[in-house]
Amino acid sequence: MSSPAGTPQRSWRPSTAVRRAIAGERIDLATLLARRVIFVAGKGGTGRSTMTAALALLGARAGKRVLAIDVDAKGDLAAALGSPPAGFTPRVVQHDLSVLELRTDESFQEYLNIYFKVPRVTRLTPLARVFDFIATGVPGPRDMLVVGKIAYEERRKERESRAPVWDLIVVDCAAGGQVESHLAAAKAMLSLVRGGIIRAQVEWIDGLVRDPQRTTVVLCALPEEMPVVEAIELHDRLRKGAGVAVDMCVLNRAVDEPVTAAHRRLMKALVDPEHADVVVQQLGGAPAPLEAGIDLQAHLYDTTARYMRMLRSKLPMPVVPVPFIVDRTGLTTTRAVADALSSRLA
Ligand SMILES: Nc1ncnc2c1ncn2[C@@H]1O[C@H](COP(=O)(O)OP(=O)(O)OP(=O)(O)O)[C@@H](O)[C@H]1O
Ligand SMILES: [Mg+2]
Repeated sequence: MSSPAGTPQRSWRPSTAVRRAIAGERIDLATLLARRVIFVAGKGGTGRSTMTAALALLGARAGKRVLAIDVDAKGDLAAALGSPPAGFTPRVVQHDLSVLELRTDESFQEYLNIYFKVPRVTRLTPLARVFDFIATGVPGPRDMLVVGKIAYEERRKERESRAPVWDLIVVDCAAGGQVESHLAAAKAMLSLVRGGIIRAQVEWIDGLVRDPQRTTVVLCALPEEMPVVEAIELHDRLRKGAGVAVDMCVLNRAVDEPVTAAHRRLMKALVDPEHADVVVQQLGGAPAPLEAGIDLQAHLYDTTARYMRMLRSKLPMPVVPVPFIVDRTGLTTTRAVADALSSRLA
């Protein structure tokens, strides 16, 4: 059967299985936001910055003091929160929400400053202790600087009350597999450092990263082959290789509105050659673009369902679709994504 335009007919009435695949699963938002650190990872362009910003907004809305960290430091995370690029020092961008851009060179300078300015006899600050191991010249210092700075922020306390400065840290990771090197850096280093204060620091960081109650990863994918394959592979490597928990996979830019039989009937009536003159007269133009739009919507809906099924069959965790937000930018997209996430995460 083909449509009037000659293109193959697509799903008019999605089956229950397709609807179920698209609907995804619900996960508990409070449990997710109760983690201390959420790493948002995935292939380039899958919406990591937007998802990080949305989770950070949801955390702040839940009354938490949130720090969002941009590992790439391209300024995209701050932009997704409606703010100009932040710096290496946390900057407040919304109520209860700050952004920090992590440039490893600055982390290194911060380390050197502290390391060389603080006399060895005085008590080392927590940051100096975190970065102390750099002086040993062991491999992977950049990865350790990233994860060390995140761990340092996680451990920071208010001066007077000694309460943690941040309730939740959400990290916008670099694209692809780089997150693995960050998360596995401390574990790898443990095999090189035998004892002393450096080992204690690295053990503490590794303990934080591999504690599923405190640290988790949220994966981002799109309804396309490569982002989905990459999310599945990344999950396996993170869980089995780095030993890090993965709580959720988001299928971003999902098209979850089916084209119904009623839409098709309406379209058929509009393109009926018998009514062509009246339609053109009444609507001011031929309805062909609308027909192409409906075909595209049906195609994207089927594609979304296919990749939802693939992710759900391969990943032992909730897969949550986040709809394609049309015609918005920056903070408005982030807010719409946050609303979509919170409606999915009970
Ligand atoms: N659900 C969505 N609907 C529509 N647009 C979206 C959605 N999620 C993200 N976007 C938009 O897609 C673009 C890419 O998103 P984003 O920058 O978050 O991806 P990224 O994975 O961080 O990319 P990069 O690899 O460049 O860092 C942005 O313009 C963003 O506003
Ligand atoms: Mg980004």
